Amino acid sequence: MRIACISDTHLTVTDPNSKSLFPRHLDSLPEEKRSALYEELRSGIELAYIRTMESLRNSGPWDAIIHLGDITGGYGESGCAHHEEARKLTLRCRSDMQRIAPRVFACVGNHDLGYGHIGSLEADVTTASVEFCEQTFGPLFWSFDAGGILCIGICSSFADYKGKDPTLLKRAHEQKVFIADTLASTKDPWILFSHSPWSAKFLAREITPHLTRLKQMISGDLHDPKKAWVIKSARRVLPIAQSNVLFHCLRNWTFCPSTAPLWWQGYQCLGLSVNAFGVAEEVIHGVLPMKNLPTASFMRCTWWCVKPKPKQS
Ligand SMILES: [Fe+2]
Repeated sequence: MRIACISDTHLTVTDPNSKSLFPRHLDSLPEEKRSALYEELRSGIELAYIRTMESLRNSGPWDAIIHLGDITGGYGESGCAHHEEARKLTLRCRSDMQRIAPRVFACVGNHDLGYGHIGSLEADVTTASVEFCEQTFGPLFWSFDAGGILCIGICSSFADYKGKDPTLLKRAHEQKVFIADTLASTKDPWILFSHSPWSAKFLAREITPHLTRLKQMISGDLHDPKKAWVIKSARRVLPIAQSNVLFHCLRNWTFCPSTAPLWWQGYQCLGLSVNAFGVAEEVIHGVLPMKNLPTASFMRCTWWCVKPKPKQS
């Protein structure tokens, strides 16, 4: 079975005040400069998406396609449901995926559902974005059989949810039950798909009894293959990793780079050939970017994320 994986497409709305791209940096710029930089990034992300999807269409046929999250940049860091254009971009991506493969799955990411982090607006997952993504892609945790190997997709934002919203706590619980029941229902080997590579540590109780059958973990989120390389190298020299569920998953980890040219040059995705023995083939379909955006620099992106907020006058 051939499975196309794409991740971190970050399709971006046209409003330069959307807070979907480095809000701390953009807010510090005069309006004209802010609009020009935002549009340069937005159109670069759009071009990378179009060219990568074209590359996937040309390298078919695919039996299934999986989006590993951050389909759009969301809006106001509250996910994709809070702005009409962000909703439309999500629906557009689903239609494009349907043209590539007959089966479409999504492991939605933090930008799709809402999030908070050190440089953010302290937003969080919203039920509106969860429900919109469910309407668009179906259940946000799922499984299917790939010829004798079980593929399980999970929602990272449910796995590490720490809030108190009853709807979201219910989803997080349902996901845990789903994972435990699905893994207990078969003796087949399995592959874990998720947006974040760290999700397994929040699901240790459900995953640990079935770790010996785990063939591969596939995730996105980090964007840049260099970051994944550092983690892959570190796991080889950490003997304490032997008994830890997260490090066990990372030892069997395949990283899907971002399509969006954010944190690095982007323009990539992943193709998998899966059979009962595991992931038999792994191909990166790279398309060279026309030019590097300012966001191709990891150091610059880090600074733009954490730089002090501009003083309010
Ligand atoms: Fe992302």
